[in-house]
Amino acid sequence: MGSSGIFEPANIGGIALRNRFIRSATHEGMGDGDGAPLESLEKLYVRLARGGVGAIVTGYAGVLQQGRCNFPGMLMIDDDELVPAYRRLVGAVHREGAPLILQIAHCGRQTRSMVTGMCTVAPSPVRDGYYSEEAPQELTEAGIREIIDAFVDAAARAKTAGFDGVQLHMAHGYLLAQFLSGHSNRRRDRWGGSLENRFRIVSEIMGGIRKRLGDYPVLAKINGYDGMPGGMRVGEAVKIAMMLEVAGCSAVEVSSGTIAEGLAIMRGPKLPMEAVLAANFKFKSIPRMLKPVMGRILPVVVPSGPKPLSGYNLEASRAVRAAVSIPVVVVGGLHTLAESSRAIGDGAADFVSMSRPFIIEPSLVRKYEEGRQAASKCTMCNYCTIMIEKEPLRCWNGRLPQGV
Ligand SMILES: Cc1cc2nc3c(=O)[nH]c(=O)nc-3n(C[C@H](O)[C@H](O)[C@H](O)COP(=O)(O)O)c2cc1C
Repeated sequence: MGSSGIFEPANIGGIALRNRFIRSATHEGMGDGDGAPLESLEKLYVRLARGGVGAIVTGYAGVLQQGRCNFPGMLMIDDDELVPAYRRLVGAVHREGAPLILQIAHCGRQTRSMVTGMCTVAPSPVRDGYYSEEAPQELTEAGIREIIDAFVDAAARAKTAGFDGVQLHMAHGYLLAQFLSGHSNRRRDRWGGSLENRFRIVSEIMGGIRKRLGDYPVLAKINGYDGMPGGMRVGEAVKIAMMLEVAGCSAVEVSSGTIAEGLAIMRGPKLPMEAVLAANFKFKSIPRMLKPVMGRILPVVVPSGPKPLSGYNLEASRAVRAAVSIPVVVVGGLHTLAESSRAIGDGAADFVSMSRPFIIEPSLVRKYEEGRQAASKCTMCNYCTIMIEKEPLRCWNGRLPQGV
C-alpha cells in the first residue's frame, strides 16, 4: 500500500472510519469534579474530527472511584447521571463525521489514595515502582467481582450515551495489565498463576459485556511488552490477543511500557526536568532554591526511558497481527506519514494511532492528506505528559511560561 491506502475508508469491529488514522486515548484533564466532560473537551474533539482523523478514542474514563487516576479532571463513567453529558459530546463529534470510542479503565495500584480517598488495590500487595509510597491492598473475590461489574456497567452507559464502542485499557500497567503481568500478579487462586487465570478478569468482563450488550464493539489496548522483571513479553501478548479474539473483542491496539519504567510508554529524548519540578507530585513541593540542584541530579539518577524513539511497538504489533484475524492498531512514536504508511503497507498493523502528534496539531491527518505536511511537529519533549498532573492537556513545546 502506498500512502494513498491509508486514507481509504476502513472498518474496525463494525465501526466505519474514513481513513486508517486513530487518535489514541489521551488523558485530557477536561472532566468536571464528577468526571463529566467539560465544554473544552467537546471543542477539542470537534477540532480533531474536523481535522480528518478516522476515529477518536477518549482519554481514560474511570469505572470506579477507587480506580480514578491521580491527575485532575479525569473522565468518569461510574454513574448513570453522567450519560446525558456524554450524549451531547458524542452528538457533537458525530456531526463532524468521526466515531467516538470511550476508553474505560481502573488504575489499580497506579494511583494515590490521597487523591481517590480510598486504598489502592491490585491483584497482589506488591508495591508499584513509581507509586511506591503505599502498598496496594490485595483484591478479594468480592472486590474483583465489583470491578468486573463496574466495567460491564461502564460499557452499558457508553452504549446508552451513543459511543460507537468502548476500549478496555489493558496496557501501561493499569489494573487489567496488573492482572495480566506475572510481575504484579502473584496470586495462586483462579485469578493468578497460568495465563488463562491471569486473563480471567478480562474474559469475565468481555463475557459480561457480550451478554448484556450483544455485539457492541469492544476494543482493547494491550501491552506488547514491558520492561519489568517477570513482566509482559511479546509471546504472552500474542496469546492474550488470541484470547481476546476468542472472547469476542473487536480490535486490539498494541502499546508497551508501564509508568514505573519512566517515559517508556511515550518515549522522548530526555526527561522534561522543568515540567517534572513544576508539576510532579514527588518534586513540586521541594523548596524553590533546591530545584536547580534537583534539576541537575535527576537526569543522572532517573533514566530517560528506552530507545528507539520511533515505531517501538511495530514488531510486537506485527507478531500480534500474524496471530489474529481481528484488526490490529499500532501506536507509539509513529510521527511521520511515511512511517504510518509503512506500518500498514508492510503488514505490521491495519490502523495507526497517535497521541502526542494530535496535541500539537489536531488537524494533522488533513495536513497529511492534502500533502501540506509529511511529519508531525511534535518534538517528544513530553511536557504534555508531565503537566497533566497540574493542568488540562495542551502542547507546551518544551517550555513553561513564566509563573507556571
Ligand atoms: C498526555 C498523555 C496522556 C495519555 N493518556 C492516555 C490514556 O488516557 N490512555 C491510554 O491508553 N494512553 C494514554 N497515553 C498514551 C498514548 O495513547 C500513546 O500510547 C503514547 O503517547 C505513544 O504514542 P505517541 O508517540 O503517538 O504519543 C497518553 C499519552 C500522553 C502524551
